[in-house]
Amino acid sequence: MTNAWKLVYDHFKPAEEGLREALCTLGNGHFGTRGAASESAASRIHYPGTYIAGVYNKLATNIAGRVVSSEDLVNCPNWLFLTFRIGEDDWVIPSKNNVLSYRQELDFQKAILSRKIRFQDDRGRITIIETQRIVHLKEPHSAAIRYIIIPENYHGEIFIRAGLDGTVRNTGVARYRQLNSKHLRPHSLGSFSKNGIYLSMKTSQSGIEICEAAKVRIFSKGKELKPLERILIKEKKAIYQEFKISVRKRQAYEIEKIVSIYTSRDQGIRSFRTRAVNSVKISPRFNSLLASHIKAWAALWKKFDIQIEGDTFSQKALRLHIFHLLQTVSIHHCLIDAGVPARGLHGEAYRGHIFWDELFVMPFFNLHTPEISKALLLYRYRRLRPARKYAREKGYRGAMFPWQSGSTGIEETPANHLNPISGKWGPDYSRFQRHISFAIAYNVCQYWRMTGDRDFLTLYGAEMILSIARFGASLSQYDPADKKYHTTGIMGPDEFHERFPGWVTSGFKDNAYTNLLIVWTLLKARRILAILPEKHKVRIFRKLRLKEKEINRWEEITRRMNIIINDAGIISQFDRYFSLKELDWKAYRARYGRIQRIDRILKAEGKSPNEYKIAKQADVLMMFYLFPLDEIKDLFNRLGYKFDSDLLKKNYEYYIKRTSHGSTLSKVVHCYIAHLLGRDRESWKWFLKVLKSDIDDTQGGTTPEGIHTGVMGGSVDIVLRGFAGINLGTEIIKITPNLPEGWRSIKLKILYQRIWISLSITKNHITVLIAGSKSKSAAIPFYIGGRLHHLCFGKTHKISVKNN
Ligand code: BGC
Repeated sequence: MTNAWKLVYDHFKPAEEGLREALCTLGNGHFGTRGAASESAASRIHYPGTYIAGVYNKLATNIAGRVVSSEDLVNCPNWLFLTFRIGEDDWVIPSKNNVLSYRQELDFQKAILSRKIRFQDDRGRITIIETQRIVHLKEPHSAAIRYIIIPENYHGEIFIRAGLDGTVRNTGVARYRQLNSKHLRPHSLGSFSKNGIYLSMKTSQSGIEICEAAKVRIFSKGKELKPLERILIKEKKAIYQEFKISVRKRQAYEIEKIVSIYTSRDQGIRSFRTRAVNSVKISPRFNSLLASHIKAWAALWKKFDIQIEGDTFSQKALRLHIFHLLQTVSIHHCLIDAGVPARGLHGEAYRGHIFWDELFVMPFFNLHTPEISKALLLYRYRRLRPARKYAREKGYRGAMFPWQSGSTGIEETPANHLNPISGKWGPDYSRFQRHISFAIAYNVCQYWRMTGDRDFLTLYGAEMILSIARFGASLSQYDPADKKYHTTGIMGPDEFHERFPGWVTSGFKDNAYTNLLIVWTLLKARRILAILPEKHKVRIFRKLRLKEKEINRWEEITRRMNIIINDAGIISQFDRYFSLKELDWKAYRARYGRIQRIDRILKAEGKSPNEYKIAKQADVLMMFYLFPLDEIKDLFNRLGYKFDSDLLKKNYEYYIKRTSHGSTLSKVVHCYIAHLLGRDRESWKWFLKVLKSDIDDTQGGTTPEGIHTGVMGGSVDIVLRGFAGINLGTEIIKITPNLPEGWRSIKLKILYQRIWISLSITKNHITVLIAGSKSKSAAIPFYIGGRLHHLCFGKTHKISVKNN
């Protein structure tokens, strides 16, 4: 039976190595390292990459006479490097030899990457290499490798080479290769004790110093070996140790490389180089690090695991998603100023930038470790000032967050991007997606709702929401002709449409999703003002120079914002959307096969995607993903629009035909909406697409450049809100499960308003255990199986949901 805790590869496939490296990335939130072979530097096949949360650097490049400036999540020195050679032969890269057997395993229960390779060289010598690697979960600066060499049919001398390689560059994404990629400058390097080396590099613009230290020891038969020779090789940007040992046939030689990584961003440390060196010096042996690492993961899985009985593939893929989310952001974020990069700490796509994808990721953390959500929200809070400046520069008020964010919170969306189909650079207008600011407001409210953390709301959240509300209001302009408020110059999540045909300015008028989000944010802002303690209300009024008149205008916008709905009940994605041309999808599919990026195809053909009714991803439908139907109905009614009960169905059917799903996020949204519509089969098909998108790289080569955190968070959200049917939107917890066919049960834990609730959901019963002492007199209301139940603490309640 397939192991639902492991990714196993039993063949070496050069063409798949990039994908496997991304999927086998190990990380602890502080840093992540791709699952690349330790023996190779970056090549056509291998791409070792190490990314430290928040370590960015900006470089300018002259492309076709224009200076393009790009801030990248820096590929930090490669700490993995470890190889050997037999006698005077070349350094071993097993994949270049005759591989006799190969097994690579990512164990996500224990977060260990292991490989066992048996290979034969040109002279018939067979060697077995067994490696294990960890990035320590609890010690955020530590990583370790155990590398065992077994000469199977020879004896003699071998040389082992271990190093820290700072010659790495950001070259992981082919599309960006024309951009400058040398982010690191040498700072210092050297050795310590008899088996330690360190390397310090500094980022060229942001001036962050990164220091890695490593200690290498060799053991055989349980004893440490004294190498016959030891050489230190110092290069400008790399340092290596070489050890000569003599080996016997069939005896195992175990090399341990213990690594520590610190940067000048780490707080409370005077000399991070000393800290890196010292922590390696005093580090215990690999086995002991491994044991504490496994223990820490076991504790984490106890909270975060979602057990699915009856479907091994879904179980495995879902765990893989949870695993990568937990590796991308962790409790260490409470001490780091960093957001959640859309593609994890797993690769260089989107240059490690932070988008709105956290909207899909945060619900999972809200319900398990809200401290992590809070840390992610604080990343945004600290960047309110640049967001205010950005709004001012563009003629708005309040806080306008950038579409792509990096270190400082200024707009990092590149001005131009390369169309790989045409090979041409063209303008990138995606920065006009103003909806990201409202997504941040939504995240604040969700965090508050799930945790009841009033302190956060008072100290940070309220200011964020009010500042974003003010921005939303300044986007909304009153037109006396129709007595409505309108927005203009903005793009929705669908990035294919960049400017209305014939317009000279970018963006569109009245993107329905954004307009609705503005209304929602303004209402939330008013609600927050109503519940803030008076003294804090006064403080915030003063700080933001808010006036009653301004708040009254907000109220007016919430009643007169324009949303266009045609006679057939279709919400217009933006003004005059219905006047665009239909695309002949069939013809394009027949001609090109994969048409997820139909925008690039059309542009390469000299046509403009703007002219067609096409969408990269869910846009109008996003509103139904975020808000319960009742809430949308209230919002629509408030704006004076009829909310027909068929609206969701009609819009789903209309837009699905016109969407290419060029973003994995689109699959998440469509899956959830199909579920809402009770189209179980369709929803299931979407769910499989969601689960397969990274594991099988179904987006056609995007996963090797980094996993998709949004789709990973989205898959968990579908299980929680969709299949398990957990609805935490109202005062009473409502559970109305609808398990996919074949799923016998879902078991999970959630932390809601500081209370741990364990749920075991089958088709017939829901078992609920609320953690806490039985002596607590309070009970929590749940709506399960069509009835209201008051469940007490510390007792297991089994409730029938049959015929519900
Ligand atoms: C999607 C965006 C998303 C970004 C990062 C793009 O392809 O269109 O919605 O935020 O990828 O994941």
